[in-house]
Amino acid sequence: MDLGIRGKVAIVTGASRGIGRACAIELAREGADVCLVARDERLLNKVAAEVRALGSRAATVSADLSTIEGCTAAVEACVAQLGAPTILVNNAGAATMGPILSLPESAIEDALQLKAWGYLRMSRLCIPHMQANGWGRIVNIAGGAGTSPSAGNMPTSLANIFVLNVTRALSDAVSKDGILVNTICPGMTNTDRARDLGMARAQREGRGVEEVVAEMGKATPAGRIAEPEEVARVATFLASDACSYVHGSSVYMDGGSRRATP
Ligand SMILES: NC(=O)c1ccc[n+]([C@@H]2O[C@H](COP(=O)([O-])OP(=O)(O)OC[C@H]3O[C@@H](n4cnc5c(N)ncnc54)[C@H](OP(=O)(O)O)[C@@H]3O)[C@@H](O)[C@H]2O)c1
Repeated sequence: MDLGIRGKVAIVTGASRGIGRACAIELAREGADVCLVARDERLLNKVAAEVRALGSRAATVSADLSTIEGCTAAVEACVAQLGAPTILVNNAGAATMGPILSLPESAIEDALQLKAWGYLRMSRLCIPHMQANGWGRIVNIAGGAGTSPSAGNMPTSLANIFVLNVTRALSDAVSKDGILVNTICPGMTNTDRARDLGMARAQREGRGVEEVVAEMGKATPAGRIAEPEEVARVATFLASDACSYVHGSSVYMDGGSRRATP
């Protein structure tokens, strides 16, 4: 299948590692030029080298996406270095876990500034470029916690439910402009974040992190956690021209863990 994105300009946030890095590489494999955004410049440069090795152009922007200034700088740098973005993969997220009864307000506020407001701000900055092109794709990486809140996951859960709502609202606003806005809700995925979450539990329970992560995977119907490349392949399809009639949807990639009917 030809995904039809050769030469298109994509912004991937949180592209220095994990799911974002995998998305950037998969988009480059399909011929898209990629603007990589995160804070760690050294890691961004490593991913940029991987993108260029695949024959695509790459730009890097070191920016804090929890601020409007960081989001604005990222989009402006993309336009200046690669051209107007018509693909946006919103992925940068970093929420603290902690009990709702004692969690500092800043933990929820920080998660919302980066992931909820960050995704919406990046979308609002990119959409005028997509409208001018008559074509655009926004893929929001949310997470299953958005629809399964618990006493220990409020920051990530609230950020993700915000993203799910914004996906639907933005989709309604821009579908007629040729812009498709969709969300992926990954389950536990093999990244630094997953290892950090596993580590916290491993320390609490006096066990090894590998053992805890493997146990989390075994608890899913699929029997394992996801690899970032698996999420990236679905993101790249949703970001492509081959995806032409999926609007305001959410793809759950959780190995079958979600208990709701589809
Ligand atoms: N891994 C999972 O199990 C899982 C499950 C469900 C949903 N998700 C979601 O998937 C997305 C990616 O997760 P991941 O596991 O790949 O995470 P990760 O390995 O921790 O990577 C997070 C990325 O976000 C960037 N980032 C963090 N804070 C930032 C900030 N203030 N400004 C700009 N960039 C920032 C990081 O780069 P710098 O530190 O260099 O800035 C990094 O590139 C997140 O939205 C997460 O909630 C992950």
